[in-house]
Amino acid sequence: MSTRFPGQSASKVTTRTIVEMKQAGEKISMLTAYDFTMAKILDQAGIDVLLVGDSASNVMAGHDTTIPMTLDQMIYHTASVVRGVNRALVIADMPFMSYQVTGREALRNAGRLMKEAGAHAVKLEGGQSITETVKRIVEAGIPVMGHLGLTPQSIYQFGTYKVRAKEQAEADRLLDDAKRLEQAGAFAIVLEKIPAKLAETVTSSVGIPTIGIGAGTGCDGQVLVVHDMLGLNHGFSPRFLRRYADLHEIMTGAVKQYVADVKNLDFPNDQEHYE
Ligand code: KIV
Repeated sequence: MSTRFPGQSASKVTTRTIVEMKQAGEKISMLTAYDFTMAKILDQAGIDVLLVGDSASNVMAGHDTTIPMTLDQMIYHTASVVRGVNRALVIADMPFMSYQVTGREALRNAGRLMKEAGAHAVKLEGGQSITETVKRIVEAGIPVMGHLGLTPQSIYQFGTYKVRAKEQAEADRLLDDAKRLEQAGAFAIVLEKIPAKLAETVTSSVGIPTIGIGAGTGCDGQVLVVHDMLGLNHGFSPRFLRRYADLHEIMTGAVKQYVADVKNLDFPNDQEHYE
């Protein structure tokens, strides 16, 4: 008997599939991925969408923010993920300063992520200030996902990673931004760290899917950083994070055992060498 997880089918997930999932009331599962091996495991486990997040800057490169990520680094990570995937939709983050200077430059850079790395879509942070750019990229045939709320590329402007849009004025602006992104042609929007009630209002006010991270259950889907949900990263414990495994402990135990086996001449044994 074959096991079929909710939302899993033999056919590839496209931007159209996830819009249809919203319409059908089926929740969308999304995780980050940055390399071939992880992408292959996540894809085979039935994930709908893989985001090659610029959070690679934090979890892969050890930076404090996503700011240092370059377009070439995003292309490298995205190409590695695309090679591991059969079914999932692969979305690549456009890194800081790759889309803010001019629409023309943004289009060229989005094109590189699709053409050189094989991304199926790109994600940009921001609302009103980037809608013309979103339109331009979409008109060229490149699907765009928006990202509102806590947008980590603006961390030095925010000065804090606290919940966004608790004040009415910012909440109103965010709702307006979501509608503008939809009008500009975005196929989905990430809502990061905003009140659950506001995420619910945004979700019912737009026809495109919302994918939440720290935005409650009312979104059309959920996303987490894979290193966080697998428990590889013990130093990060926000309230919204659910840990599905403790790979930090499992890996530490395995490596300690290996070190002991090598030192005690237990590894390799007679079966683990060539005559
Ligand atoms: O870069 C990233 O991982 C993201 C998610 C947190 C949505 O943008």
